Amino acid sequence: MEGAQRLREDYPWIQTPLVVGAPMRLIALADMAVEISKAGGLGFIGVGTDTSNLSSDLQAAAKLIEKSSLTMNHDVMPIGIGFINWGADLDTAISLIAQYRPAAVWFFAPTSISSLCEWTAQTRKASSRTKIWVQIGSMKEAAEVMHAARPDALVVQGTDAGGHGLVQGASLITLLPEVSDNVYAMCKEEGISPAILIAAGGVVDARGAAAALALGASGVVLGTRFLASPEANISKGYRDEILRASDGGQSTARSKVYDNLRGTTGWSETHNARGVINKSYVDAMSGMDEEENKKLYEEEMKKGDAGWGFEARMTTYAGSGVGLVREVKPAGDIVREVRDGSTAVLEGLRGSPIEVKL
Ligand SMILES: Cc1cc2nc3c(=O)[nH]c(=O)nc-3n(C[C@H](O)[C@H](O)[C@H](O)COP(=O)(O)O)c2cc1C
Repeated sequence: MEGAQRLREDYPWIQTPLVVGAPMRLIALADMAVEISKAGGLGFIGVGTDTSNLSSDLQAAAKLIEKSSLTMNHDVMPIGIGFINWGADLDTAISLIAQYRPAAVWFFAPTSISSLCEWTAQTRKASSRTKIWVQIGSMKEAAEVMHAARPDALVVQGTDAGGHGLVQGASLITLLPEVSDNVYAMCKEEGISPAILIAAGGVVDARGAAAALALGASGVVLGTRFLASPEANISKGYRDEILRASDGGQSTARSKVYDNLRGTTGWSETHNARGVINKSYVDAMSGMDEEENKKLYEEEMKKGDAGWGFEARMTTYAGSGVGLVREVKPAGDIVREVRDGSTAVLEGLRGSPIEVKL
């Protein structure tokens, strides 16, 4: 069955091409997830490694859904929940998945493939209609995950992505078609249904979304773009820095510096995170002692919104598409703009004859 059709069957409220809200830890909460789904996308609550607020986030989401035009099909909640598996508590997660039955769960960075299989098996037992999404960043990861856990969707994350991802990676333009070819070949050989492929990393507007669809994705994830929406749970300083930064290949970097300063350690050596370059990063690269850098970071926390900026020290996780984020826009409007625009871009291409020379 074609990807878009499968998506419409699995998530009956969506419109295609599917626009997905990334489960940004502590930033994408009930408001954002529900607004994205209300607009025909799929919104995820970003739990990250700490499940302690998940129950109240889900309660808040349930109330918002009740007041909206969204319906609960087969008692399934029309939003997803995203976990960073290496730190999240499995028992709490599973009991809430059983209670709320989200349309999808999104797993990322498990400690091992066997741990991922444990999360997957328990989720399926707790809520059989909940679809399993796993975010991967390489062809090797895609093959291992597909083989062992048989997820419903693979989120293929290219190295332009904001926040955490593989230290060593490739952009979507090469990663996605290679993953697609290999996953389809492998699934054919093993006689299993291939996962839906969803693209993440550097998709900010309709042009990027159209490109990802052309590369073989059935839907796109936006993280950085949603940081500039009123629903993002971030401070004004963070949002202003997102709007200020441009030329993301130069103004952002992948690093472990920000995690080390913030104390969000526990990530494996294989992962780091992309953020806007600031004074903490420049000082670390110039050899400043980590303790000294941390002290300066902690001082900066007292400055409020003034703590963000090129000459400041608070962390601005964002992808290399940050320069394309130029205005604050409601999350639902972003979903509609990107979805309708990507269709228009693709139709426009069809209209103009393109000569392909090999
Ligand atoms: C601020 C921020 C926080 C993020 N937090 C998470 C997270 O908690 N879990 C996760 O799986 N991915 C997280 N991501 C990565 C996204 O899932 C996604 O891969 C990425 O945002 C896509 O690239 P883009 O930022 O260029 O849109 C985060 C991204 C950002 C920008």
